[in-house]
This record gives sequence, structure tokens and C-alpha cells, in this order.
Amino acid sequence: MSETAQKSGGLAGITAGTTAVCTVGKEGVGLTYRGYSIEDLAEKATFEEVAYLLLRGTLPTQAELAAYRDRLHGLQDLPASLKQTLEAIPAGTHQMDVLRTGCSMLGTLEPESDTHSQLDAADRLIACFGSMLAYWYHYQADGRRIETTSPEKTVAGHFLHLLHGHPPSDAAKRVLDISLILYAEHEFNASTFAARVIIATLSDYYSAITGGIGALRGPLHGGANEAAMELIEQFSDPDAAEAGIMDLLQKKAKIMGFGHRVYRDRDPRSDIIKVHAKRLAEQHQDKVLYPVAERIEAIMRREKNLFPNLDFYSAIAYHFCGIPTPMFTPLFVISRTAGWSAHIFEQRENNKLIRPTAEYTGPAERPFPPMDQRS
Ligand code: COA
Repeated sequence: MSETAQKSGGLAGITAGTTAVCTVGKEGVGLTYRGYSIEDLAEKATFEEVAYLLLRGTLPTQAELAAYRDRLHGLQDLPASLKQTLEAIPAGTHQMDVLRTGCSMLGTLEPESDTHSQLDAADRLIACFGSMLAYWYHYQADGRRIETTSPEKTVAGHFLHLLHGHPPSDAAKRVLDISLILYAEHEFNASTFAARVIIATLSDYYSAITGGIGALRGPLHGGANEAAMELIEQFSDPDAAEAGIMDLLQKKAKIMGFGHRVYRDRDPRSDIIKVHAKRLAEQHQDKVLYPVAERIEAIMRREKNLFPNLDFYSAIAYHFCGIPTPMFTPLFVISRTAGWSAHIFEQRENNKLIRPTAEYTGPAERPFPPMDQRS
């Protein structure tokens, strides 16, 4: 393999296009959405403001935000045939597959058209992905066909309301809201790149989002938050975690929720969500999960000089919001639909088919043998 091909394994370090949506890892740690720092957005904005910013390019005014919240609220409900499709998905199905199927089905019911723009489709999915997830979850758990609307006008509040069947606490709502802000966008990550590759063939909006969900599902990408929770829950106390993680590292296992392709020293999103994970753990008088997580963080820093990424402490935060672990990565989908869509719109504005070349490493050209001469 040539030096260039070796160096760009997994396209690491390769600039594969331009974007005005987001910067990741500038000056080592930074993350900005359309020029606003993630620290400012997480502290001062709500997820709906961030979705509006990503999809429409500017922050909403007070009146625009109120109108946008009303709009999303009006898009929560699911068509009857989509509910029937969700009911047909077997119990035990990976919940990312539920959203992938739901997205695909909605694309057949509400395809892009002159009257249903890509922006309409993006708002619709952001508003109703939580309804799909909760509807399937309750139907499979106990056969209940829940209402897929709620009085909640925020995406976080709506999801928690449908999941738990009652109005969520302000604390849980705000932590989930912050996590949706942190997950909303991240430049040319694997799922966004997959979505851009799909839309660049002049395919439709829903195909690109469905492809993004498929890419996000894997544990090296979005699936890491579920894998991190499963890891943390294995240990009864920090000392057990010390022994277990050292054993895993000796076996050269990857510890999910650590490391990053672009960030080198720390993931700025992790610092933000960790504060909230800690506060929720204290509120729940947790003496196990958070201390175990902090010990794992210390071991990873000491042994591998690796830092937690957003997925690690998000897992703890979601857990203490009462969210079942298999829903962690689907929540990422609800949020990242804003970022994926912004990239789809951007790709369409200045489209060029994405089709790189490969360095061939197979056999040299050779004669085609007749059947009786093959061994
Ligand atoms: N646990 C243990 N070792 C890790 C590690 C982890 N989470 N992440 C990286 N490393 C080690 C690798 O084993 C490798 O060591 P080596 O050079 O001795 O072989 C080195 O660090 C480089 O790792 P590599 O996987 O080649 O880097 P990458 O840029 O391709 O990987 C990730 C980035 C995110 C895929 C990787 O850090 C990872 O798999 N993390 C766990 C999954 C995860 O949390 N994903 C969510 C990302 S937001």
C-alpha cells in the first residue's frame, strides 16, 4: 500500500469536502455549530433553538422559536399505517432498527414533493422519532397502543412524557435537552458522511437519513453509549472496575466511550454532560455507577492517556433520567437528524457525486481458466 493510502486508513486526517455547518477539534478541543461554541449553546440555548439554527442557518427570535415549538408540537402524531408497521416489528428488535424502519415507512407515506420540502421532512422526523420509539416500546412491552401526542412542546419533554406516561421533571427534561444539543451535529462523522454520500447520488432525503441511522448504530460510533452503560453496570464498585478494566486492556479490548478520531486531548461535550451526570447520580443517591465511571475514566487516562467522549457520561445521565439502555442510541438519532439534515441540504446546494478511488491490492491481471482447469 502506498504511504498516502496507509496514512489515510479510515480516511483519518483527510479533508473530504467543505462545510459551513460545524467545526470539530479546531485548536485541539473546540466544537462550534454555525460559529457558536458548544459551551454557549449547551448553557444558553435549547435543543429546538439548536435544531432551528442547524436547519435554517440562524438562531430564531423569541417569536420564531415559539412558532417553531408549536410547529414541532403539531408534528408529533403518527399516521395509522406507520403505527401498524411499528406493531409488526418483533419484540427484541434493536431499537435503532425500529427507527430505521419507521423512517423508511414515513418516507413512503410523506415523500418529498412540491408541497413537502426537505425542511418539512426534517422537522417532521425530529418531532415524531420520539413518538415512534415510545409507541413501539409500549406496544411490545404490554400491548398498549399509546397516544403519540403529548402536551410537551419540547422534543426532550415529549419523549420523556410518552416513555414514562406522565409529565417529566424539569431536571430530567433539561438534562435530556442538553444532551440533545451536544449530540446534534459533529461535522464529517461516519453517519453524516454516509448521509452525504447517499444524497450526493441525487437520492431522496429519507434514504440519506435511513443510511445515517445504519451507520450510527455501530458501537464504534453512536452505539458506544449503550456499550458504555453495559460496561459500567458490570462492576459492583470501583475496585472491581479497576481489576476488570485492566483485564480488558490486557486483552487489547476497546473500552467503549473512550477516544476519538479527531479530538486529541479531550471531548468538550464530555466535560459538559459529566457535570449533569454527576448531579443526577447524587440526586439518586447513587454510590456505585458514577464512582465506577470515574474510576474507569482515571484508569483510561493513566493507562492509555485516553479521555471519555460524549457517549461515556451520557450513558450515566440517561440512566438516571430513567431511560432504558436500548434507547440511548435512538435518542442520538432524534438529535443528530438536525445535523444530518443540515449536511443533506448543504450537499444538495453544491452537489458533486462522492466517489473516491481505491489502491488495488489484488492479483495481477491473469487469463480466465476454463472450468476443467480450476482447482
Ligand atoms: N479503548 C482502548 N484503546 C483504545 C480506545 C479505546 N476506547 N480507543 C483507541 N484506543 C487505542 C487503540 O487500541 C490504538 O492503540 P494501538 O495504536 O496500540 O493499536 C490507538 O488507541 C488508536 O486507536 P484507533 O482505533 O486506531 O483510533 P481511531 O482514530 O480509529 O479510533 C475510535 C477512534 C473512536 C473509533 C476509537 O477511539 C474507539 O474505538 N473508541 C471506542 C468506541 C467509541 O467510544 N466510539 C464513540 C466515538 S465518539
